[in-house]
Amino acid sequence: MNYERRGAPAIRGAFTVPGDKSISHRALLFSSLAKGESVIKGISTGADVKSTMSCLSQLGVRIESSDGVIRVRSEGKNSYSSPATMLDAGNSGTTMRLLTGILAGQKFESSITGDETLRRRPMQRIVGPLSEMGARIAGSENMTAPLRIFPVEKLRAIRYELPIASAQVKSAVLLAGLFAEGETIVVEPVESRDHTERMLGLKKSKGSTGIETRITGDLVILPREYDVAGDISSAAFFLAAGAILPNSSVTARGVTLNPTRTGFLEVLVMMGAKVKIENVREVAGEPIGDVTVSHSELVGVEISGSLIPRLIDELPVVGVVAAFAKGETIVHDAHDLRRKESDRIVAVVDNLEAMGSEVQELDDGFIVNGTGNLRGAEIESYKDHRIAMAFAIAGLAAEGKTTIRDAEWAQISFPEFFSILDRLAA
Ligand code: S3P
Repeated sequence: MNYERRGAPAIRGAFTVPGDKSISHRALLFSSLAKGESVIKGISTGADVKSTMSCLSQLGVRIESSDGVIRVRSEGKNSYSSPATMLDAGNSGTTMRLLTGILAGQKFESSITGDETLRRRPMQRIVGPLSEMGARIAGSENMTAPLRIFPVEKLRAIRYELPIASAQVKSAVLLAGLFAEGETIVVEPVESRDHTERMLGLKKSKGSTGIETRITGDLVILPREYDVAGDISSAAFFLAAGAILPNSSVTARGVTLNPTRTGFLEVLVMMGAKVKIENVREVAGEPIGDVTVSHSELVGVEISGSLIPRLIDELPVVGVVAAFAKGETIVHDAHDLRRKESDRIVAVVDNLEAMGSEVQELDDGFIVNGTGNLRGAEIESYKDHRIAMAFAIAGLAAEGKTTIRDAEWAQISFPEFFSILDRLAA
């Protein structure tokens, strides 16, 4: 499906977004390890989270959905049954990496694959530490999916220092730690999203080489009710539009304000956007609130270092905002962007170029020289949800017509995206 639209003069109004994708995956996975019934409200509506649900169902976890409320029933962390067929994580890296952490400690064999994109993404980053723990995992060429995970009796606790910050790798190792004797410690050089730690009540501390998180094999996960906060990474697209379109103001209600996820809001403030945060409260251990972004003159900024993991998924839309921020915006230390659902450095640079922006590719990021205008163009989504959505926002602020090719990929995380966009821009 192609999505076509002409620029809009302004974007105004309030909106809610579906539940946070990262929290939703974890709510399902952690419920599947808890003996009893857990209830999940406000779960993400995206296809990625549906992939986690279907993998867990194949593993014998009972999941029911009615009126948007999910009930998960499990007999506890050792109750998965051996799947009859290969598990399919679809497009979802989080499903594959976190679930492999759990499967690594099982007494049965399993296999997990994904779509064409996911089968290209690197899995050595989890297979390395899981193998150190005693897991036996075979992969395809260059350790990509399908992965075949062989049975083990017990894993070994390890101390693992992540070479780059990654919440998926961190969580995979911590989950494997549930099936290991003793204490598993994961050390991150800079902090990535900490939903796993919060939701499992894990201890974090500052060590000499980074932030240390610990888990012991005897941790008992209890069934509970999860209220999933709105996804700030989905809201970010409309907040970006509020910042770049004159006379605009938009409010995202009830989004997660977990500090490991708010880097994008900080960048908007650094660029000079008006950002107002209200109604801050705590829901299920996560700070949430309403965020209003209004247009003002923006300036280019430098984005690097520990800020990167805190806005990793927002970097494509940061590139779009940068085209409207006077002067240079430099993104570096973001090499891992090349390993996402697409090579997001290439996707951002090529599409911004097609829209007439002055942009330069870096090995680990990009430089955009903001001129304040873009022209409509044919956009290649690279079958990547965040590229499709980021450039739909660019199209809103561009002169002339923009066509997003394969726009349906937005449903990976945010099926409601285009209808909310059309309403706010009406
Ligand atoms: C996620 C972690 C991040 C992020 C992804 C979701 C998670 O990936 O890009 O969309 O839920 O743990 P990495 O851990 O590969 O950085």
